[in-house]
Amino acid sequence: MKKKQMKTWLLTMVAVMMMTIILPACVGKSDAADIVIVGGGGAGMSAAIEAHNSGAKVVLLEKMPMLGGNTARAEGGLNAAGTEYQKAQGIDDSPELHFEDTMKGGKDVNNPDLVKVLTDNAANSVLFLKENGAELSEVGKAGGSSVPRIHRPEGGEAAGNFIVMALKKKLEELKVDVRLQHNVTEIIKDKDDNVTGVKGTDKDGKAFEIEAKAVILATGGFGANLDMVVKYNSDLEGFATTNAPGAQGDGIELASAVGAKLVDMKEIQIHPTTIPGEGVLITEGVRGDGAILVNQEGVRFTNELLTRDVVSKNILVQTDKVAYLIFNEELRGTLKATDTYFEMGLVQEGQTLADLASKIGVDPSILEQTVNRYSQFKEAGADEDFQRDDMRLDFTKGAYYAIKVTPGIHHTMGGVAINTQAQVLNESGMAIPNLYAAGEVTGGVHGANRLGGNALADITTFGRIAAQEAVQSLK
Ligand code: FUM
Repeated sequence: MKKKQMKTWLLTMVAVMMMTIILPACVGKSDAADIVIVGGGGAGMSAAIEAHNSGAKVVLLEKMPMLGGNTARAEGGLNAAGTEYQKAQGIDDSPELHFEDTMKGGKDVNNPDLVKVLTDNAANSVLFLKENGAELSEVGKAGGSSVPRIHRPEGGEAAGNFIVMALKKKLEELKVDVRLQHNVTEIIKDKDDNVTGVKGTDKDGKAFEIEAKAVILATGGFGANLDMVVKYNSDLEGFATTNAPGAQGDGIELASAVGAKLVDMKEIQIHPTTIPGEGVLITEGVRGDGAILVNQEGVRFTNELLTRDVVSKNILVQTDKVAYLIFNEELRGTLKATDTYFEMGLVQEGQTLADLASKIGVDPSILEQTVNRYSQFKEAGADEDFQRDDMRLDFTKGAYYAIKVTPGIHHTMGGVAINTQAQVLNESGMAIPNLYAAGEVTGGVHGANRLGGNALADITTFGRIAAQEAVQSLK
């Protein structure tokens, strides 16, 4: 070989070697994984971290331009029984009591096996979040819970976004393959009915296909798809929604197309306190930390800490189907989540109760009378009118605040049927091989009414279980 030919041959060989190294990295990014997770809210992110840490090659697909889903909108916190934080505050709780409260709140429509998994494992979910940068160290009271059980960040910051930020950071640290603006349009099955991957389109409309040994659906519910809401529950025509725009029910459609059974589809939760016409959520934490509800006549009409379905029903029979959350400066100090409401201009303010009453168009003497009566109940330790068992504010000091609220669509309790291993079930109750689901895309955990705090518990717990089971199936 001449010297010049030799040089050309050498250059060609180097180029071929470079291509051999670089090409698989490019191609591999769009072709295969052990586990594909569809949906990048709290359930999908928890599943991705758990599966990655167990050694699986994971691809997380999210159709929106950012991670978070409905989890980023969750405010209150996460229900768990028997945590170190409850113990430190002397709160006597147990998974059994959490189970009882959840079944009662869900009117016993819940699948008890799933509820048992939720309540037995929620404390571990709090630990998982702590290990992954989202410590929920404060414990508060939420409607329908017998004892303080809802865990939130110190200072009362909104819990959902806090969790999303921490898990996102962890996914980046772990270098998990997260692909945004990747919309899954089909779950692929082989001739023996085993799920073998997904198909979809990316942000440029380019088709992609990923082969996978297991698929986890974590696409959330359908609370932002008002047509679908009304299709399953026509009573909800005209209600605004608190949901993130991505909550369109796509996972439910995807799973149905491969034979999944759907359960409890008509069970859709309205949250009592949202901003009229806008659906902005005012966290249940405001009531939990002490606020009361009065109607436009300035009169209290409910125990504010009953379950969401009951409080919503009680607001809907008031004038104009609205009420006012009344609280004071003391609450503002304990619940950082309220900062946003002030920034958004949602709060009316008065230095005295009479001042506040005139701002919201309520008879000042009636509002004063209502609040003073409540303060006496607080002092006596017994709410003679509505038997509220947890009264945190005595309302003796201002400034005083009011937020006008009405019920809005908040959570879809129905969805894809799963078993305790988070496997998706078909119409005959058999697991569809290699298909798992977690979070609001599933049905059965919350029955006819979800307790505040049980959604974050659900997504973290079943997200991790789906990942553990999927990883197990790889072996
Ligand atoms: O009221 C809330 O903060 C909502 C919480 C939840 O839906 O769990």
